Amino acid sequence: MQKILEELEKRRARARLGGGEKRIAAQHAKGKLTARERIDLLLDEGSFEEFDIFVEHRAHDFGMADQRIPGDGVVTGWGTIGGRTVFVFSKDFTVFGGSLSGAHAQKIVKVQRQAMKVGAPLIGLFDAGGARIQEGVESLAGYADIFLENTLASGVIPQISVIMGPCAGGDVYSPAITDFIFMVRDTSYMYVTGPDVVKAVTGETVTHEDLGGASIHCVKSGVADGAFDNDLEALSQVRRLIEFLPASNREKAPARKSFDEPDREEPSLDTLVPLDNDRPYDIKELILKVVDEADFFEISAEYAKNIVCGFGRMDGETAGFVANQPMALAGVLDMDASRKAARFVRFCDAFNIPIVTFVDVPGFMPGTRQEYGGLIKHGAKLLYAYAEATVPKVTLITRKAYGGAYDVMSSKHLRGDINYAWPTAEIAVMGAKGAVEIIFRADAADPEKLKAREAEYRDRFANPFVAASLGYIDDVILPHETRRRIARALKSLKSKELTNPWKKHGNIPL
Ligand code: HXC
Repeated sequence: MQKILEELEKRRARARLGGGEKRIAAQHAKGKLTARERIDLLLDEGSFEEFDIFVEHRAHDFGMADQRIPGDGVVTGWGTIGGRTVFVFSKDFTVFGGSLSGAHAQKIVKVQRQAMKVGAPLIGLFDAGGARIQEGVESLAGYADIFLENTLASGVIPQISVIMGPCAGGDVYSPAITDFIFMVRDTSYMYVTGPDVVKAVTGETVTHEDLGGASIHCVKSGVADGAFDNDLEALSQVRRLIEFLPASNREKAPARKSFDEPDREEPSLDTLVPLDNDRPYDIKELILKVVDEADFFEISAEYAKNIVCGFGRMDGETAGFVANQPMALAGVLDMDASRKAARFVRFCDAFNIPIVTFVDVPGFMPGTRQEYGGLIKHGAKLLYAYAEATVPKVTLITRKAYGGAYDVMSSKHLRGDINYAWPTAEIAVMGAKGAVEIIFRADAADPEKLKAREAEYRDRFANPFVAASLGYIDDVILPHETRRRIARALKSLKSKELTNPWKKHGNIPL
């Protein structure tokens, strides 16, 4: 028996060594942790149960018959975060560059299916060079198997991808289907084709970072949802995110005891909105002062900064927050902001997370860049997302709610459940100046007359009372009582029941 145990331990030790000491040292020298070190940091201490440690690839060509490393470049299994089950796979760059063989793919598919059966989140840690070049079509088939499982799991279990090294070729599309992608600054990059292929096909010379680093995907393309400075920070932030989320669409997000009184007043909010309605203010101040213990997990903080999305808790329960940000482009809705928020709203709706919306929006962004880029379709995504969402929806208009953007931002008309406004709210087709220039074009030569008209328009529409008199706003509330009113609103909506008409699925304007 002793001999059998020794043999088992020997085999395990061999597998744990992955591509060997030299490659592990090279990994560390790049500032990256190994696949197993990452799992240890991600999961609760000692909670990891590994599957398939002895799986090997089945390839023979190109000398592969002599190169078999147990585990085959990916570590898979399950463990806990804060005591709650999660499934995980972590690509091992030290083994054939983390590349994907048929056997490697089957290991990932196994945890994907297990996560679905159990109803638990799936977290993928990426550090890989794409399809195993020596394997050919078996590798391509493996990718498709993974993509299929990702797609079937979408909206059923939360899926999170963390890019911690190269993520090239076939590796990019699994993360792209998942709910959130995070990247590590300077050591990770994602692209469909690398700089060499780009050079050959288009003649462009570009670095890995400029093609697909965190500075691109978390800022410009919006492909990824957040960047962190190193592996450790990325993994601890994923742990934090998981604590906001339900295990699956069959459950509610876990409640966490809050020591922050739900009726806490915040007098400083009474002066948050400047008297001059063109002056910006930081909407994040409102979010941080409203949520429990100022604990807010922001999604895509560096991308489309004109809209803020993220998770917080109200009286211990998770809520998704969407807020126009007057500090960036005056909080206007453009293509990027619409897409970012639409995806976030749909995530919340899929996973039973109530949505709180703070509105200060001057409208949709004008211009050829926007129109040529499909602003109509992108804006419609957000409209569609809010309209179809059946989770509790609480809205507060702090200042501007102009034009179509008023409708879009979780208005009563899109089944907003409780819609509040601060006394500083202005709900109108557009700002007074623009409105007067159009409807009193004949007075254009007379600035005094225009000014008077502008004042008249402002008096009539630049307030929340017209909308309130029509029942589109349920109440005009005082800023300092915002936390209490929203917490109570959410509490009253806990047992909300609403279903959409039966359909196979809608046809969101993609
Ligand atoms: C097999 C691979 C590999 C791959 C890397 N390796 N990528 N082995 N298949 N795809 C191996 C290397 O041979 C090397 O082995 C080790 O991993 C580390 O690779 P290096 O090149 O030394 O590392 P580095 O300089 O850091 O460069 C990393 C890299 C580069 C940028 C990812 O390795 C690279 O360009 N790889 C190929 C990427 C690629 O074109 N993949 C195929 C995409 S096509 P040793 O033994 O020396 O340690 C694709 C299609 C799928 O994925 C489509 C499905 C939809």
